[in-house]
Amino acid sequence: MIDLHCHILPDIDDGAASLGVSLEMARMAQVSGVKEIAATPHFRGDSESLGMLADIQQRFDRLQAMLARDQIPIRLHRGAEVLCLPQTVELAADHQLPTLGTGNYVLTEFYFDESFDYMDEMLTQIAGYGYRIVVAHPERYEAIQRDSRRLRRWARQGFALQLNKGSILGSFGPRAERVANEIMAMGLAHLIASDGHGCQHRTPHMGAVKEWAEAMCQESYAKILLERNPRRILEGRPLVSDD
Ligand SMILES: [Fe+2]
Repeated sequence: MIDLHCHILPDIDDGAASLGVSLEMARMAQVSGVKEIAATPHFRGDSESLGMLADIQQRFDRLQAMLARDQIPIRLHRGAEVLCLPQTVELAADHQLPTLGTGNYVLTEFYFDESFDYMDEMLTQIAGYGYRIVVAHPERYEAIQRDSRRLRRWARQGFALQLNKGSILGSFGPRAERVANEIMAMGLAHLIASDGHGCQHRTPHMGAVKEWAEAMCQESYAKILLERNPRRILEGRPLVSDD
């Protein structure tokens, strides 16, 4: 499996609190069958935050070196989870947004109570500057919980819809769980990721969600959700649907 959304970098956001926790998260992911992780710390999408990118890079390099030292066979990929603000469009215009892996996909998030029209406008504008979009945990947004069929529009635009492990397993309450199931039933999910933040709650262990995916759908689709689309996103290639 490839986990495309994980707050594994140490001491930079509300994810891993120390390098020790980062290494423990990597071991936990590895035991559950994860081989590659995109390190995606929160990044506020405004120009004042651009200085943070060097900090992210430094922590990434350090963790990568420690994984090698401790012989933990996890391949790390570069990334960030971009909080979309009105100023984020300016960063997109200047081609300054952090992307996932070596491609041009941006992992995007919003405040949970944003309107659908605002999110739609922001994502369309960002995509207009040559980025591809991954929408992190759409099932957690109030506007989507009110009507998940709105996601058909984003799927048509080629936006990748990433479900959170915790939503599927019920950790974010019955609404997010219901909507995650609706998204799966509509065939709109492109990938599942841990959105792991530590080793106690919201962990990077992907075992239970892999079992869930394999029980919910064809093995080939489970593989698309947990491996093939994450790989394509890291390489900047188009998504695959169930085939
Ligand atoms: Fe996240």
